[in-house]
Amino acid sequence: MVARTPRESRNAPRMGIRGVSALAFPQIGHKKRIGEDRRCCMRCGYEGPCVQKDDNEIVRRTLLDTDMVVFATPLYYYGMSAQLKTVIDRFCAYNSSLNSRHLKSALLTVAWNADDRTFDALEANYKTLVRYINFNDMGMVLGCGCGSPSMTRRSGYPEKAYQLGRKL
Ligand SMILES: Cc1cc2nc3c(=O)[nH]c(=O)nc-3n(C[C@H](O)[C@H](O)[C@H](O)COP(=O)(O)O)c2cc1C
Repeated sequence: MVARTPRESRNAPRMGIRGVSALAFPQIGHKKRIGEDRRCCMRCGYEGPCVQKDDNEIVRRTLLDTDMVVFATPLYYYGMSAQLKTVIDRFCAYNSSLNSRHLKSALLTVAWNADDRTFDALEANYKTLVRYINFNDMGMVLGCGCGSPSMTRRSGYPEKAYQLGRKL
């Protein structure tokens, strides 16, 4: 599970953890912050080794050695968190390897709003990424009306995430 949120409440990963608790997925954490090294991406000429020496190497190794990736993010201004986007942008250094893995993928997300259009942009972004990088989408849990951990707990979305994990 790649779960990235900058806030203390960490509402998005909370749902993600419930979502993947049905499975034995590794969760990728970071000690060294990803995205702080300003050296130019693509200096490796694709397929690395990456010139930026940070914990992205852990993400890379894990993704190239797993069956599935679960993206967990809060909705920030109608997109994924900048932190998750930074991790995804680093796919650039192992784009072909990742493409050939045909990983299963899922999206777990939370947002304050509850109207029909809330997740349009994020959904389109996720589906386009999945198509481009040859992932096999296993489903999305779009948790609208989940503005805080207590709102999320009261909603049915953690259970939906759990059921998504179970049916894989
Ligand atoms: C910077 C920021 C931008 C947000 N943008 C949106 C938004 O566009 N639409 C929405 O419904 N909620 C938005 N929210 C609310 C969060 O999606 C919601 O509170 C979520 O539960 C936060 O999860 P987190 O604790 O993992 O950050 C935003 C919150 C923040 C802090």
